[in-house]
Amino acid sequence: MIKLELDKVNFIDLTSLLEKTSSSHTKNFLVYPQGEHYKLLAYISSLLNNAVIFDIGTHHGSSALALSVNKTNKIISYDILNQCELLMPISNIELNIGNAAEDKRLIDASLILLDTAHDGIYEANFIVHLLNIGYKGILILDDIFLCPEMKAVWKAIDLPKYDLTYAGHNTGTGLIDFGNNVIVTESEKWLSDKKILKSFEKNPFETIKTELGKTSIPKEIITYILKCIVLKFETEKNIGRKLF
Ligand SMILES: C[S@@+](CC[C@H](N)C(=O)[O-])C[C@H]1O[C@@H](n2cnc3c(N)ncnc32)[C@H](O)[C@@H]1O
Repeated sequence: MIKLELDKVNFIDLTSLLEKTSSSHTKNFLVYPQGEHYKLLAYISSLLNNAVIFDIGTHHGSSALALSVNKTNKIISYDILNQCELLMPISNIELNIGNAAEDKRLIDASLILLDTAHDGIYEANFIVHLLNIGYKGILILDDIFLCPEMKAVWKAIDLPKYDLTYAGHNTGTGLIDFGNNVIVTESEKWLSDKKILKSFEKNPFETIKTELGKTSIPKEIITYILKCIVLKFETEKNIGRKLF
């Protein structure tokens, strides 16, 4: 049984991995992982030992790197293009170009991260393939709310499944438990933070005002903080990337 205590994801520190990549994108994710799934991946990897983990959709190697944090696990990463910027060799990461579904080791995986085309077709076919081979591990499906096709795949999955978005990627992170081996726990604090985040998504500034209003911070300081946040949002929109 694997017990996922979602509160613990926040305490994961990925900065020890910085020296293993030349990608500025990956470095950014390691230092500022908020809204991304890398801490969650590292946390799940830390709960497994001597496990085979598939990372399908290598891209620059960020997810493979996060998963590699537990050295006892072997990360088998696949892409159809060579874009990886990891400073190889990394002892527990194997990079492959090709079709992961044809890899016979898939059945031995405790965890598979699927983060590829997001057209819904590849994902649906891959899940059917896992059912056909009798897969009993965990599948993390990234970007489950990215587009209507991914939403449809997520909705259609008739297996034990958990929406881990608030501990993962803000475009949606789903966990499918093929072998019924996972327990997910959320503390009171976690549930209350999740409520605040949900409210923040609908109405960011009102939420910040309300939450800061619960503290003893003077009104003038709250107004100043809100101005800084507005400035951050506007700057991010102009430069097309997150500042922090
Ligand atoms: C969103 S990126 C993956 C990001 C990466 N997992 C991370 O978190 O750092 C998607 C990647 O999937 C790759 N891809 C697309 N179709 C694929 C397939 N059938 N098999 C493996 N990789 C694929 C793309 O080339 C691209 O690099």
